[in-house]
Amino acid sequence: MKFRFRMAAVRLCSQRLRISSRQRCMSSYYRYSTCNTSSTEILVQDKSSQHSLKNQFECHTLSFINVNKKLPHQSCFFPKVTNILTSMKSVCKLPQNDIRYSPLSRLNIKHRPRYALHQSQTHTDRSYSTRADTVKDTLNDWTEKLEAADVPEASLAVEYIISHILDIPRMELHRYASLTLSEEMLTEIERLMTCRLARMPLQYILGEWDFHSITLKVRPPVFIPRPETEKLVELALECLQGIKAPRILEIGCGSGAICLSLLHILGDLHCVAVDQSKHAIEVTALNAASLRVTDRLTLVEGKVTSEKMPSLPQECFDLIISNPPYMLRKDLLNVQPEIMIYEDMRALDGGKEGLDVIKAVIKHSQHLLPGGHALLLEVDPCHCYLIPTWMEKQPTLKLNMSKVFQDFNGKDRFIKFVKLS
Ligand SMILES: C[S@@+](CC[C@H](N)C(=O)[O-])C[C@H]1O[C@@H](n2cnc3c(N)ncnc32)[C@H](O)[C@@H]1O
Repeated sequence: MKFRFRMAAVRLCSQRLRISSRQRCMSSYYRYSTCNTSSTEILVQDKSSQHSLKNQFECHTLSFINVNKKLPHQSCFFPKVTNILTSMKSVCKLPQNDIRYSPLSRLNIKHRPRYALHQSQTHTDRSYSTRADTVKDTLNDWTEKLEAADVPEASLAVEYIISHILDIPRMELHRYASLTLSEEMLTEIERLMTCRLARMPLQYILGEWDFHSITLKVRPPVFIPRPETEKLVELALECLQGIKAPRILEIGCGSGAICLSLLHILGDLHCVAVDQSKHAIEVTALNAASLRVTDRLTLVEGKVTSEKMPSLPQECFDLIISNPPYMLRKDLLNVQPEIMIYEDMRALDGGKEGLDVIKAVIKHSQHLLPGGHALLLEVDPCHCYLIPTWMEKQPTLKLNMSKVFQDFNGKDRFIKFVKLS
């Protein structure tokens, strides 16, 4: 509803981008935001938008498709592409003129240093600041601005960003309400708020996020770990109870949320983690190094399909675990701009029924697990009905769907399969 309402207003504004609901458009945004080497298509409403974008960014790599004549039946509104590009440049270290050819390995999150905060810095500490902007005023100002731009959970984002700059826990922010912020801090806050106004996810802006028992570095376009997946870690811990020096396989490791949580908790665990995205592999490696578990983790860059599994360093695992791309393609049209613009859509897109990668994982798992051992999957609730129907048509499949578990919203979210003996 929100999107539709916005669209009405945006139709009047020719500089704004119109994004069609077609898959091509999503992949265009995906390509744009992940700096792939294929050409980038951006759907715009008129010629002046094209000129403005080309002039501002010298983006000879962007190609434009005019959608004026054929307006899509379902559209949603995004921040100006110029703002998105600025945010990407601001948070990530990007070459000046060409976003497309920047390998993501060079997109090191470049956060400026946080500021040491001393209790002595008070409203009257003029040597520290030349502007009379207190924490409280800044909070209110930016909350208003973000709310006016319809940014979801505005006040929460503002609290996170200001406490990040001050390097204090968010819950303690109220204690510093009357503190005067320095010019430098205010400029830095503005830089990060501008990213949020361009709908960059808060996690990417802060550069790290907590998951289960660890803190992970997160950077675009690698999938941001979601809180519901923490339960998958708990289910894995239950499955691994009593197994000495267990060996597990994770398919689609993303930032490493699942496998690294497990490696962090279980000191004798060894893990092989596969992902088709080299950016995901890079971020997992970075996080593994921070957690000092690199020696127990083998990373494999490769795509799992029904026909092929990338070559693995071993052929048998005590547990296989995966939070694969499982969204139904039709549902991808409704994701928030935060996701569609900045996250890798291949981390979400499970194909028509959301089962493309799930089926592949199930097929391979039967050959990689000994009898009685488990495969744990995170799925869409509808898969708890679709998968048994599909399995019935696979008479040679040596896996049994043993139990369905709910997430914290009470939705059927996790399935445990057990290899038949
Ligand atoms: C939903 S994300 C999950 C990431 C991480 N495990 C988590 O829970 O935060 C899915 C991941 O699977 C990877 N992926 C998607 N399709 C794949 C495939 N066919 N083979 C290997 N990895 C794939 C994506 O790159 C992405 O990192």
